[in-house]
Amino acid sequence: MDAGSTADRDRFDLAVVGLGYVGLPLAVRAVDAGLRTVGVDTSDSVVDGLIRGRSHIGDVDDSAVSGMLGAGFTATTGTAVLSAASVIVLCVPTGLTGSGQPDLSAVHAAVRSTGERIRPGTLVCLESTSHPGTTEDVVRPILERCSGLRVGEDLHLAYSPERIDPGNPQFGVANTPKVVAGCTPLCTKHATAFYEQLADPIVAARGTREAETAKLLENSYRYVNIALVNELAMFCAGAGIDVWDVLSCAASKPFGFTPFQPGPGVGGHCIPVDPRYLEVSARQVGVPLRTLETAREVNERMPVHVADQAAALLRSRGREPAGSRVLLLGVTYKPGVADMRESPAFAVARSLLAAGAHVRYHDPLIDEFHVDGHPLSRVDEPFDTENDLLVLLQEHSCYDRERLASGDRLVLDTRGPGSTRLPEHGPGEQGRPDA
Ligand SMILES: NC(=O)c1ccc[n+]([C@@H]2O[C@H](COP(=O)([O-])OP(=O)(O)OC[C@H]3O[C@@H](n4cnc5c(N)ncnc54)[C@H](O)[C@@H]3O)[C@@H](O)[C@H]2O)c1
Repeated sequence: MDAGSTADRDRFDLAVVGLGYVGLPLAVRAVDAGLRTVGVDTSDSVVDGLIRGRSHIGDVDDSAVSGMLGAGFTATTGTAVLSAASVIVLCVPTGLTGSGQPDLSAVHAAVRSTGERIRPGTLVCLESTSHPGTTEDVVRPILERCSGLRVGEDLHLAYSPERIDPGNPQFGVANTPKVVAGCTPLCTKHATAFYEQLADPIVAARGTREAETAKLLENSYRYVNIALVNELAMFCAGAGIDVWDVLSCAASKPFGFTPFQPGPGVGGHCIPVDPRYLEVSARQVGVPLRTLETAREVNERMPVHVADQAAALLRSRGREPAGSRVLLLGVTYKPGVADMRESPAFAVARSLLAAGAHVRYHDPLIDEFHVDGHPLSRVDEPFDTENDLLVLLQEHSCYDRERLASGDRLVLDTRGPGSTRLPEHGPGEQGRPDA
């Protein structure tokens, strides 16, 4: 599948390395802007699908891929094409290792491939989210060593964090402000000129470290504020206060308050992962970011809190969690997005299974849901009568709260005010088996 020698003879304005949730929409935008674009990905199935006109990303439909192919886009698992590109943008994953440490293995691999192929004069931009210093201290040395070229003299290197918001119909690559920073003023100039073709406006950061940290701040801001409302939700549950009413009252303030919503935990490839990059960097420089560390503890506790609430609701009807039939509604990490990465549904299901419940799921976007290798049964009808408790985890548009609350259903709504009310209780009693 290497576009190989033919592509090598041709020139590409842009090579996008990593064709996932970030890289593919970027490639779509670039083709739309008239750039001759090639995509490189290590996954055979991703490349196979794209060259057959099939998208694997919810925000990009098959017709957009067909349109790109018609406009000359091509995709390949080979890296030879990188020597034919004027600009190379790296959009590879940056997750965590099993022990929760930043995992830059995909960045290392992509930069090595780039360095081995790159020609003088090329602009390389990293878009992957990573810790401050990644562009200067990780990417630059590998690139220079593998290419034998000097950044700022023979080639240009920049960082520009991606801000894509999967499932957001309002903001895409073209109309989301793009932060850009080069390793040298000349690198910044080249990177700015490139991104001006794709996005508006361009926001020049003082340096790559500032741009890297700004991206981590954006996601950490969400992480901390979600932790605040999650912890408030736990407090309100214990104190017999309606947290949704509290939030709606507070949100009526037209200034100085940005509403965030509690939920069953935090999911996705970014929000639960990126703050960890900042946390680890902060520890390394001896200034631990304790707010982030506490936020992580709170957010990671939420799925267990949900399982505890489920148990309390079941017991309010005289049932024990063991042997009860529980249906999870919506198991993706985000409404309307078929992405299970880091979804809190895993931890909620794990806790309920550990309590002995029979757990099934309904999600129109997900065909299979395995928890620790154990496949959960999929249910096609969310309102069937075969359940002792419905737990709404993700607000997909198919879940009608009014319908959910109708009849004698026992409902735990982790995203809104639709939970079945427990019998009246005093402060601190909610969740007790006899409450
Ligand atoms: N998903 C988001 O909403 C989002 C938003 C902003 C930033 N980001 C950041 O962007 C980066 C990419 O995230 P994503 O969600 O697009 O990931 P993804 O997993 O959807 O896509 C990454 C792609 O890169 C490919 N890949 C892995 N190693 C490769 C290599 N060495 N060479 C070529 N291809 C390789 C994978 O096969 C995959 O198709 C991450 O750093 C992420 O934190 C993601």
